[in-house]
Amino acid sequence: MDKVLEFLLPPAKSTIAGQVDGLFIFILAVSAVLLVGISFAIIYFSWKYKRRSEQDTTPVITHNTKLEVAWSVIPLILVMIVFGWGFTGYMNMRTVPTDAYEIRVVGKSWLWEFHYENGTVSVNELHVPANRPVNLVMSSNDVIHSFYIPDYRVKRDVLPNRYSNVWFEAMETGESVIFCTEYCGRAHSNMIATVTAHSESDFENWLATANVIDESLSPVELGKELIAKNGCNACHSVDGSRMVGPSYKGSWMAERELEDGSVVTVDANYLRESILEPNAKIGAGYDPVMPSYQGLLSDREIDAIIEYIKTID
Ligand code: CUA
Repeated sequence: MDKVLEFLLPPAKSTIAGQVDGLFIFILAVSAVLLVGISFAIIYFSWKYKRRSEQDTTPVITHNTKLEVAWSVIPLILVMIVFGWGFTGYMNMRTVPTDAYEIRVVGKSWLWEFHYENGTVSVNELHVPANRPVNLVMSSNDVIHSFYIPDYRVKRDVLPNRYSNVWFEAMETGESVIFCTEYCGRAHSNMIATVTAHSESDFENWLATANVIDESLSPVELGKELIAKNGCNACHSVDGSRMVGPSYKGSWMAERELEDGSVVTVDANYLRESILEPNAKIGAGYDPVMPSYQGLLSDREIDAIIEYIKTID
């Protein structure tokens, strides 16, 4: 049974996962029994009652009380079990424990932003304490996204102009993947993040140091790390290939044509403006879809990113 579960489902890492899986397996098993039973009955009856001669006639059957009660009551019991099980599970998933740790989540095309109580911000990397309920209060900056952690068995739409929430309690430390499950545009499939569950002390540690710049890194190394950390590479390549946005390769000091036909030089001011107000000057042939990094990157971090872009030629 464990092997079958392993094949069918991702590892169950949250407190709610067992209940979700139990119901899933129940519905699957009932469906499998019905499928096999009905299929065999059809084949058997079509053989047993086939017309054998010209004189064969079908007797008139008005009703069969026993049979009719059976085929009404058995499915009723089955669907009531599914309803009761599903409803209690749903209520458990919708009722946030009062001591839940709250994290703000913002979906943007095409990244996830996580804001913590002490002002720490992370992009595409959610960090949570294990063995403690965590409530995510979510909203979108643009279109509808959907927040899904398969290992935790939680999924919820993330909407513009409205908060939605999802809560879970990770049962063990470790990393799991977060998907966007609402088709939200060209880089939807790159809108992937991770959730890392830490022990309480590791989590406190992470919170305190996450936004502190690693002083041992050179500006170029820091810039490279920031580009990976902030999801820039979901839309910008470093090898010259064209993705949603222009490639970094060879962009430094290049002449870039804009939508209105004017030409700009990709210098530090242009890069800085493009990070903070991405839609101010859109390169010809590209869509105005990049989210602003205002409030997410400090001046020093922007400088480091520019230093790194300079080196990609
Ligand atoms: Cu966001 Cu798909």
